[in-house]
Amino acid sequence: MTDTQKQDRVLIFDTTLRDGEQSPGATMTHDEKLEIAELLDDMGVDVIEAGFPIASEGDFAAVKEIAQRSKNSVICGLARANFKDIDRCFEAVKLAAKPRIHTFIGTSPLHRAIPNLTMDEMADRIHETVTHARNLCDNVQWSPMDATRTEADYLCRVVEIAIKAGATTINIPDTVGYTYPRESADIIKMLLERVPGADTITFATHCHNDLGMATANALAAVEAGARQIECTINGLGERAGNTALEEVVMALRVRNDILPFRTEIDTTKIMNLSRRVASVSGFPVQFNKAIVGKNAFLHESGIHQDGVLKNVETFEIMRPEDIGLTAKNIAMGKHSGRAALRSKMKELGFDLADNQLNDLFVRFKALADRKKEIYDDDLVALVHDHAVQAEADTLHVKRLRVVCGTDGPQEAELTMLIDGVEHSIDATGDGPVDAAFNAVKMLWPHKARLQLYQVHAVTEGTDAQATVSVRVEEDGRIATGQSADTDTVVASVKAYVNALNRLIVRREKGGSDKAEVSYKDH
Ligand code: KIV
Ligand code: ZN
Repeated sequence: MTDTQKQDRVLIFDTTLRDGEQSPGATMTHDEKLEIAELLDDMGVDVIEAGFPIASEGDFAAVKEIAQRSKNSVICGLARANFKDIDRCFEAVKLAAKPRIHTFIGTSPLHRAIPNLTMDEMADRIHETVTHARNLCDNVQWSPMDATRTEADYLCRVVEIAIKAGATTINIPDTVGYTYPRESADIIKMLLERVPGADTITFATHCHNDLGMATANALAAVEAGARQIECTINGLGERAGNTALEEVVMALRVRNDILPFRTEIDTTKIMNLSRRVASVSGFPVQFNKAIVGKNAFLHESGIHQDGVLKNVETFEIMRPEDIGLTAKNIAMGKHSGRAALRSKMKELGFDLADNQLNDLFVRFKALADRKKEIYDDDLVALVHDHAVQAEADTLHVKRLRVVCGTDGPQEAELTMLIDGVEHSIDATGDGPVDAAFNAVKMLWPHKARLQLYQVHAVTEGTDAQATVSVRVEEDGRIATGQSADTDTVVASVKAYVNALNRLIVRREKGGSDKAEVSYKDH
């Protein structure tokens, strides 16, 4: 056994699909949720919080299918402190190899006032609901929401009740991102010292990033005795988000000298997951974001570049490969063959079936005709672009021409297939993207509102591919679309049409993306 293997294990609980997806506009489709869950399971995440089953039919169906398909991870669903929520949650997770029910109630004075329960009434409710959950499932997590603003004595009292009722994990949420590392540690220490039975369960830490301290607060809780960190990919989550998985995992790895804890995360899968979550959620990663930001491993200044060339450790505390970032070498050229593409894709973590490879090869050649140098990121964008486009195709962009000039308005000539029938139109707008979007709207009238439009260059250079994310909303239904192309306007229109195609699917399925119940509705 190596020294690291002997270290205390910290469980990684990923809530990208629940707390992350709860952030306004980050709604993912059913298939996207399945894909992200599979990637999380493959990466070695111990617990996946797959959703809030009572919130909507869509949430229920996603949690259920994730549970059925799960391999190694525990699959957890969220439930408020009532029997109906808990039953529905168990119904969704019960087919997982390892199911977990996570039930919670707000215990701070402000949160107790919402259901208008006295301290004693709330204590009774906790006892009844945790007992009920435990009667259904051996693995029960309980959370006193807003724990960091709950009176210390009351927090000890309710944690003891939950442990006696059978909770196997007690999670301490810093719901509003209010705590500070020393306080985060002190709360865990206090619970371990004062609560009978505290040594028989696992304490978890769940931090929000409102004051930018979520990672520090989570690590402080671990030093004090917490052995489960709740986090999300890219720190996705309501308001300023949650603790970022990549930050805590890499901190535990890089500073293992002072944080002697181990996780089972395969860190080389981090970058791919980060890209996928950014793409499907429509929430881009800020350039200077720790670990996964575009600039996190870039050395622009002469002094830095010189130092790194002589010895990478002068300015790098971890290697890009550790998180799955391959060297930004030119990956492939116009003359590269199918075998080279297959081996490159394998190196990038994509094990493609023959038909997928053939399809990618055609699109790769088309890109190579337009772009001199094809980088790894270009290939990843091509794979992701296709995964997105393949889902539904009522609307299809056939041809687009835009006329730009310093004197507006700009013009767009668009030909689209609508249910297989060709339609063309000319439109004007304030810029080429606006003109092209207007053309789409004229050909296929709709009242969906554009909530987000975002462009990113995949690589450097003026011939770089642009990846575009679009989010639209109609009657409470939200759909996102993405596309990549060397032409930004083409990528924009394809992303827009992709979002509309997904909206059509959602219209057909009915229901709304807005949770049908509130977290506060106990
Ligand atoms: O932040 C929070 O308190 C939560 C709970 C539901 C655990 O997400
Ligand atoms: Zn939360």
